[in-house]
This record gives sequence, structure tokens and C-alpha cells, in this order.
Amino acid sequence: GADIEADISKIEPGQLIRVIWRSKPVWIARRTPELLASLLTHDDQLKDPNSDEEQQPEFAKNSYRSLKEEYLVLVGICTHLGCSPQHLKDGAFAEYVEGVEEGFFCPCHGSKFDMAGRVFENVPAGLNLVVPPYMFIDDNTILIG
Ligand code: FES
Repeated sequence: GADIEADISKIEPGQLIRVIWRSKPVWIARRTPELLASLLTHDDQLKDPNSDEEQQPEFAKNSYRSLKEEYLVLVGICTHLGCSPQHLKDGAFAEYVEGVEEGFFCPCHGSKFDMAGRVFENVPAGLNLVVPPYMFIDDNTILIG
């Protein structure tokens, strides 16, 4: 069918890979412990830190929004008008949100999302990035769909 298997065995900590699922870009990021800790520090700058505002898998209603904390899986489409946000890291994102080192920036109208796909305040996008349905087939393989 349209479901896909993604091999995550070669994703290094801090790295993000892109796959295509049902013609949509899907990002899989392997988050470092430091990055996971940083997700707990900026809830007050987010519109919906626990993903209450939208249809989400139960496991996405928290700061990490993932089945395993280490691996983030997101549909890479801006929830404003559908552009493709850029992944900015190594401090590049801090130019857009002070104190936040890494995240996603949408060049179309400036929406900003953290490394759990949660949307920041004061941007046109209203909803967090979508978490697609997925499961771990084994430690190295994610089934998306
Ligand atoms: Fe991303 Fe408008 S489409 S900010």
C-alpha cells in the first residue's frame, strides 16, 4: 500500500533524514539528550505545548510528541499554507527565536516550530506540525502509515 518502511539505523544523533510518504515529506530526526532537555525550557513561548488543539495521536500530547523520545517523526509541511519549513541547527534557529538553538523555520511567512514540531507564538501558523501514524517494527525500522 502507501505505507512505507524507513531504515533509521544510520541516523546519527543530531541528524535528520527525509522520506516521502503518500507524496508528503516526512522528517525523522534523532534527538540528542541535550536537545530533549531543551524542549522542556520554552513551553511559555509555544501556542500549544501539549498539542491539545488538534487531532493528535495520544503519544503526541506532550513535550516530545514521539513514541520513543529520541526519534521525532513529523510531516514536513507547514500548518499555515503548506510550504516546506527549513531545518535550522547549530544556533542558526536562535536568530529567529532567542535562546532556542534548533528548530524549523518556514520561509513563506515566518512560522517557527521547535524540535517537537510545536509552533511558537507570534507566527501565522496556528497548529503544531502533524505527527503521522507510525510504529516501530524493530529498533532500526519505522513503519509510517
Ligand atoms: Fe509556512 Fe505560511 S506557509 S508560514
